[in-house]
Amino acid sequence: MNAQAERSAPVRVLVTGGSGLVGRAIRHVVEEEGASKEGEEWIFLSSKDADLTNKEETRAVFEKHRPTHIIHLAAMVGGLFRNMKYNLDFWRNNVSINDNVLQAAHQVGVVKVVSCLSTCIFPDKTTYPINETMIHNGPPHDSNFGYAYAKRMIDVQNKGYFQQHGRCYTAVIPTNVFGPHDNFSIEDGHVLPGLIHKAYIAQKEGKPLVVWGSGSPRRQFIYSLDLARLFLWVLREYPEVEPIILSVGEEEEVSIREAADAVVESLGFKGEVVYDTSKADGQFKKTASNSKLRRYLPSFKFTPFHQALKETCDWFVANYDAARK
Ligand SMILES: NC(=O)c1ccc[n+]([C@@H]2O[C@H](COP(=O)([O-])OP(=O)(O)OC[C@H]3O[C@@H](n4cnc5c(N)ncnc54)[C@H](OP(=O)(O)O)[C@@H]3O)[C@@H](O)[C@H]2O)c1
Repeated sequence: MNAQAERSAPVRVLVTGGSGLVGRAIRHVVEEEGASKEGEEWIFLSSKDADLTNKEETRAVFEKHRPTHIIHLAAMVGGLFRNMKYNLDFWRNNVSINDNVLQAAHQVGVVKVVSCLSTCIFPDKTTYPINETMIHNGPPHDSNFGYAYAKRMIDVQNKGYFQQHGRCYTAVIPTNVFGPHDNFSIEDGHVLPGLIHKAYIAQKEGKPLVVWGSGSPRRQFIYSLDLARLFLWVLREYPEVEPIILSVGEEEEVSIREAADAVVESLGFKGEVVYDTSKADGQFKKTASNSKLRRYLPSFKFTPFHQALKETCDWFVANYDAARK
């Protein structure tokens, strides 16, 4: 296609998982921050539009919208404790969703797919920092083997679509994501939204904030709106099939204790903070390198952690009744 034709070709971006934490952030960036380009049409799907574990429903929703580009976010997602309980469901649901989405994309002629992996799918025993070449180098942590292996297979499939069909289907690898519209469930959610919810309740009831685990594991957190801006860049400009880690730098890693302190500060929590060491810690750390991202985008500015956390806490307090929890 020549440059003129390429410029005028319609671009229809279908976002699976458009109602989730990351999907809502992409929607915000596209619709509220004016990041949509002329000629682009954006469609955000939720599970109400199609159950993507179902091949026929997936195919039908792709036929209906005839997208040219896909951001594939839909997945069974959860924190450590939900993963430990339902490894089989995480494996089966996510393998089905990913196979249905990638194959339907291929069948309707989608030119680019950006899927979403996670740094928690890397080998448990590894050297640090983790980089993009290490995904398949050994078994993942036992707590989330179902989710991890299902996600790894996206990378295998992307290579296959490129090798057999020349498709540019790629994937990003974010670290722990947080922001407005997260799942703030204490039992099933990720560590930060869970802590925010617990601190909010402890504050209201005048009780101590009980943090699960020792507080010593370390994590890199990425604000959902920063991730959304990076997703748009990957969709439009990142040329590789090989995945790319989307993360703040290694020096930005914080312990769960530091994260809990930041939540306490953001919510103005005045009570006692205690650590329940009878609960599991999960993987001690999964420090990821963002040097590949930095080679492409040396000057991208991440929102400072405390600012992003404050915005998230403010959103949760203002939207307490409607928030997922
Ligand atoms: N959150 C993190 O810390 C994190 C970190 C790294 C990577 N990721 C990845 O980022 C992506 C988005 O995660 P998120 O945190 O935004 O998740 P989320 O808030 O739980 O949203 C999940 C999305 O997937 C949709 N979905 C789930 N099952 C579906 C099904 N069977 N058919 C159709 N849609 C389905 C949900 O639709 P409904 O709203 O209708 O249920 C929702 O839109 C996922 O691929 C996840 O693995 C997340």
